[in-house]
Amino acid sequence: MCGIVGAVAQRDIAEILVEGLRRLEYRGYDSAGVAIVDADCNLERVRRLGKVQELADAIETKHVHGGTGIAHTRWATHGEPSEANAHPHISGDIAVVHNGIIENYEVLREELRARGYVFESQTDTEVIAHLVEWERRTSETLLEAVQKTAKQLEGAYGTVVVDRKDPERLIVARSGSPIVIGLGVGENFLASDQLALLNVTRRFIYLEEGDVAEITRRDVNIFDLNGAKVEREVTESNAEHDAGEKGKYRHFMQKEIFEQPTALVKTIEGRVTKDSVITDSIGLHATEILNKVEHVQLIACGTSYNSAMASRYWFESIAGVSCDVEIASEFRYRKFVTRPNSLLITLSQSGETADTLAALRLAKEKGYMSAMTICNVAGSSLVRESDFAFMTRAGTEIGVASTKAFTTQLAALLMLVVALGKQKGTVDKALEAEIVGEIHKLPKQIEAALNSEKEIEVLAEDFADKHHTLFLGRGEYYPIALEAALKLKEISYIHAEAYAAGELKHGPLALIDADMPVVVVAPSNDLLEKLKSNIEEVRARGGLLYVFADEGAGFVSDETMKVITLPHVSEITAPIFYTVPMQLLAYHVALIKGTDVDQPRNLAKAVTVE
Ligand code: M6R
Repeated sequence: MCGIVGAVAQRDIAEILVEGLRRLEYRGYDSAGVAIVDADCNLERVRRLGKVQELADAIETKHVHGGTGIAHTRWATHGEPSEANAHPHISGDIAVVHNGIIENYEVLREELRARGYVFESQTDTEVIAHLVEWERRTSETLLEAVQKTAKQLEGAYGTVVVDRKDPERLIVARSGSPIVIGLGVGENFLASDQLALLNVTRRFIYLEEGDVAEITRRDVNIFDLNGAKVEREVTESNAEHDAGEKGKYRHFMQKEIFEQPTALVKTIEGRVTKDSVITDSIGLHATEILNKVEHVQLIACGTSYNSAMASRYWFESIAGVSCDVEIASEFRYRKFVTRPNSLLITLSQSGETADTLAALRLAKEKGYMSAMTICNVAGSSLVRESDFAFMTRAGTEIGVASTKAFTTQLAALLMLVVALGKQKGTVDKALEAEIVGEIHKLPKQIEAALNSEKEIEVLAEDFADKHHTLFLGRGEYYPIALEAALKLKEISYIHAEAYAAGELKHGPLALIDADMPVVVVAPSNDLLEKLKSNIEEVRARGGLLYVFADEGAGFVSDETMKVITLPHVSEITAPIFYTVPMQLLAYHVALIKGTDVDQPRNLAKAVTVE
């Protein structure tokens, strides 16, 4: 999705803006641009279709200098990817960048046309530029013009405005699209994601909904929705400075897959003792809230939805609490009945997914007992708007394909389930000690799963020339199959479907032939014999099988079935463990196919628009 960077400094800021955009590249974009003003009120705009590097080269060639500027990476929503549609957009002396969608842009555009404004792009953003220019004519300050403009905008926006004639000031407004201000010494910055600024500062202020801020080199003044001056908390970021670096890895996705043991250690740390879950570590008043919970409603999108699906088995079988899971974009537009004492839990890596955020806001009006989020980004909208947050500590995830966020979400969910079960009396001391013991073993077990990489690399050759793949699992391995299919399709562009194996004979069996590999997640458990029957159904129809199992499952490779044998792990944590070989499979198939692993086509990292 789109990214924003801005700076007001005494030094030249072109490099800071470009580096900030580079750090946001992972979010997905199609074009990029900057507008920089120098002390003599000269404004230079440079925009390029394609990669940030092309913009950087153009800035260098044009010798663009200045201490105040705004920059943007665009992910097309209104109008094709083109230089004309790239931000910043300019109207007179005003230049604007914008994330989000202005829903009433058509009405505004007609009004502005009637006032004589000529539109040069197909974007919704251009109305902001013209509106600010219009309001500036009758406002004492740029701040006032932006405040008046903000009142006329419907939809979601994070927007930054610079006025060529007022070169030491940026005005930024936030409504539905995140903006963070980075505090420097004698210089200040802003961005849509703190990651963009970690090379220049660690001190951040997150704007709240409806805030408008005026940023100069020395001051940051923030005004709320009603125009009243407000103070917002300054937070010190402990995000890793090198989060934007690949290090020894070829791709961020590969790095993030291999970071999973550490990410799990961090997520577990301080939340469990040797043999128990520390309920208070789950969040403010967690003990009191969990005590009252009679139902759990999980809401998420994409990979986060798959982790929610997997955890449903745990909520009901371990904690004995009924649990529903729903895709956020469905939930938010459906008339639903809120169950008594229902705990709403949103799951999200980014904490900014528009549908999940909208679902949370809706649920808060609908009488949920409490709204909790399991999230990976501190200070994100979901974290700030939920009653309490249980943070995964996966570290910054850059690859569009989510990996370490998924496994850490599952670890967090498992700890939550145990805490809930304790309150409900369904988890006794012995069971708690057993599950916590398995949670402690998990990071080492994931390391062992990573050791299967070489074998999976070879296996990936069989998939690279295929057009379709089927993933099968039963019980909590069905969501793991869903996640495996999502990973493969998004980075290799191979069509991949996942089915609960028992559903095969209700339709998907018709698809089976030697051209469609069938991957089965088959650890030894109570459902193994049932799964073996499903495997035979595939084999009898000439299907090619790839079975991921432990030694105890008793599979042997032959001409129709390749068995990938993994170490045995406890049934409790096996869904997390079996995710890792699936991630490696998707990664290696994509490598062979030569796709853009970290920024697959048409996708964005944080989906901040509907
Ligand atoms: O940031 P979130 O977890 O809310 O994001 C949800 C989905 O957009 C995300 O999981 C998406 O499906 C990933 N690309 C999957 O790898």
